[in-house]
Amino acid sequence: MSTPLATFIQDPNFLDVLYIIAFALFIQGLRGLSGPTTAVQGNRIAAVGMAIAVLATLLNRGEGNWGLIALGIVLGGAVGVPAARQVKMTAMPQMVALFNGVGGGAVFLIAWSEFRRSGGYTHTATYITIFSLFAAIIGSVSFWGSNIAFGKLQEIIPGRPITLGSAQQFVNLLLFALAVAAGVDIAAGDHSEAIFIGMLVCAALLGNAVVLPIGGADMPVVISLLNAFTGLSAAATGIALDNPALIVAGMIVGASGSILTNLMAVAMNRSIPAIVAGGFGGGGAVAGAEGAGEHAGTVRSTSAADAAIQLAYANRVVVVPGYGMAVAQAQHAVRELTKELEARGVEVSYAIHPVAGRMPGHMNVLLAEADVPYDQLKEMEEANPEFQRTDVSLVIGANDVTNPAAKNTPSSPIYGMPILEVSDSRSVIVIKRSMNPGFAGIENELYFDPKTAMLFGDAKSAVSEITTELAAL
Ligand code: TAP
Repeated sequence: MSTPLATFIQDPNFLDVLYIIAFALFIQGLRGLSGPTTAVQGNRIAAVGMAIAVLATLLNRGEGNWGLIALGIVLGGAVGVPAARQVKMTAMPQMVALFNGVGGGAVFLIAWSEFRRSGGYTHTATYITIFSLFAAIIGSVSFWGSNIAFGKLQEIIPGRPITLGSAQQFVNLLLFALAVAAGVDIAAGDHSEAIFIGMLVCAALLGNAVVLPIGGADMPVVISLLNAFTGLSAAATGIALDNPALIVAGMIVGASGSILTNLMAVAMNRSIPAIVAGGFGGGGAVAGAEGAGEHAGTVRSTSAADAAIQLAYANRVVVVPGYGMAVAQAQHAVRELTKELEARGVEVSYAIHPVAGRMPGHMNVLLAEADVPYDQLKEMEEANPEFQRTDVSLVIGANDVTNPAAKNTPSSPIYGMPILEVSDSRSVIVIKRSMNPGFAGIENELYFDPKTAMLFGDAKSAVSEITTELAAL
């Protein structure tokens, strides 16, 4: 292209302006993601920013193979668009894990192709080589780790920890040391592709070895951590390719992923190194089974009619939503019930645990969708002191986040995780379909508390039945 327009749109200064616009849109989009009402718009703004960044990169790299690029966009779009449109809210963590894996995979493939293109980094500045090798190792760890996380969440692989026992940490350290040693060898001038592939294989095994021993309850933290890894490796690739958009986007993902990882680890009272070292979350099935024997026969069940009476005569009711409410899509039915209670003068609020559901903010998004007023949503720290003056806690499809074993049973795998202290309230009604455990795979001591009554059934129909009974009172 040599027309004045072509010269203008390929001018590096023009491309820099496009990149700056894209970065501003990323940041504005991220701001939007901080609240449920602005999140959708925030996403759109960030997507426009990404489209501009991609366009600028394509203009910049005029030498690229346009046919292949178009084919990639068409194939990626054909898989990604329907997948993103059809995914259920409850399957979102798997989707995030999968997409994150794709990012990590792209990063290590780019690093590999750069290695080949430059003849094993011949005449490449050392710092570029180092960033490229960093991207290759972390991208590969992230790709394989994310795929394992996807497999566990999708229940293709067992959610319980799969470990090599006491040898696990030694094996992890060995794989890490081998990958780094291969990287150092290449950075020192070895052009061998076999060493490069060996480095990728060690990183791939490390990705598997780190995530396989991690159990269900820790999975959200791990996905967020892998997300941060992919971001950092993309930023390193950006430095290697001299692409500012990739550096900025990668750093934004790396920083926000790290902050989110930390927030979730704090919410679950876990240290990130302890999670990565493995062995937590999901190993509790045995402890739960013991508990079942101990408590068998002490569960009290109730009916929708009795639950309606209990709620109607309460002064204060706290709704505790969980994953089961999301699966049943019961949020609108819940809103109808609480409106009916409010009309009777009952004070209603919602207690939201930071890891209730299957992804951060899951409950807030669903309840916002059902027009629940924000001022009724109480975060755990605010909600817990209020349970003592609560007449009825209505637990809807929430399990692990209410389990008193986290406070009372040191042998429990969730011991130390902060919970919603619903057992402090005068009475508790739990809506779920059976006595089956939640995501962490452990039994809930709450169900055996004499204050608790179980209303067995699907969350949506059970809540609607209560509303019908309430209206008939
Ligand atoms: P869970 O502990 O997983 O419990 C959900 C309960 O919902 C289950 O015990 C299930 O019992 C019930 N349920 C399922 N379908 C239902 C339906 N249609 N109607 C009524 N009940 C239904 O959920 P939670 O309390 O929200 O805790 C979250 C857990 O997930 C934590 O362990 C957390 O670490 C983990 N996790 C969280 C995230 C994030 S970031 N939020 C991400 C991944 C994992 P029945 O089968 O008996 O009905």
